[in-house]
Amino acid sequence: MRTALVTGAARGIGAATVRHLAGAGYAVLAVDVAADDPALPYALGTKAELAAVASSTGAEPFVADVRDPGALAAAVAEAERRWGGLDVAIAAAGVIAGGVPLWEVPPDQEDAVLDVDLRGVINLARAAIPALLRRPEPRTGRFLAVASAAATRGLPMLAAYCAAKAGVAGLVRALGVELGGTGVTANAVSPGSTDTPILAESARLYGLPGAADFAAQQPVGRLLEPAEIARVLAFLAEPASGATTGAVVPVDGGLAL
Ligand SMILES: NC(=O)c1ccc[n+]([C@@H]2O[C@H](COP(=O)([O-])OP(=O)(O)OC[C@H]3O[C@@H](n4cnc5c(N)ncnc54)[C@H](O)[C@@H]3O)[C@@H](O)[C@H]2O)c1
Repeated sequence: MRTALVTGAARGIGAATVRHLAGAGYAVLAVDVAADDPALPYALGTKAELAAVASSTGAEPFVADVRDPGALAAAVAEAERRWGGLDVAIAAAGVIAGGVPLWEVPPDQEDAVLDVDLRGVINLARAAIPALLRRPEPRTGRFLAVASAAATRGLPMLAAYCAAKAGVAGLVRALGVELGGTGVTANAVSPGSTDTPILAESARLYGLPGAADFAAQQPVGRLLEPAEIARVLAFLAEPASGATTGAVVPVDGGLAL
């Protein structure tokens, strides 16, 4: 049985990824902080949402903050204890803040964005990649991260978010090379505007009436569904996807064009 750990699993893209992988027969540890961040003015995923994702998919819920390396080490250890090893680690947890130029962003909000969206991905890589490498050869471990079209576009009023996501793109490129010859790969996907609570918060930061207003800027002319991002993550997670490494795959409805 193939096993996976997914962060940001209580809702949105992470939850859709848990659903997709569980449906494909994976044993999944569904990790989320499941609590609000006092630095951020919008609600994060809840314990009830995480429990609902777990009970509807058969995934195991696990509360952990990706900013806490010890908590992620415990999550990886839990997956290995339950299922005997880890094959796939997916960093989907993320937050957003901004709405004003970088130099006016409250420092605690800037810290939240950089610490969750970049450091949190690095923390998962540190905790999970050794577990992927503990699998016997021939290995098919997959480290995956959710970057963003913001990794390559300069989005005003979201500078720290853009910096963090560009950092994730750089991280997987380097990891892809570091993991050369091991059978383990590292990749990211870069979603466009996807219909989740983080996009509703982005709309609020831009003073827009709602997330639907982002549809027009996307060549496909609509918002993306979380399941559309999840299916590409699941594709990259497959053992047969070992030819792709160090890549940042756009799943963005053409937003980055
Ligand atoms: N929705 C979009 O338009 C869009 C576009 C590009 C990239 N992304 C990225 O996709 C990823 C998933 O976002 P989403 O759209 O599903 O948003 P979301 O807000 O619906 O879900 C994010 C989840 O991450 C969790 N989380 C936040 N901080 C955490 C922490 N410190 N530790 C553990 N979990 C934490 C939240 O509780 C929440 O359940 C994020 O990395 C986001 O930056 C989203």
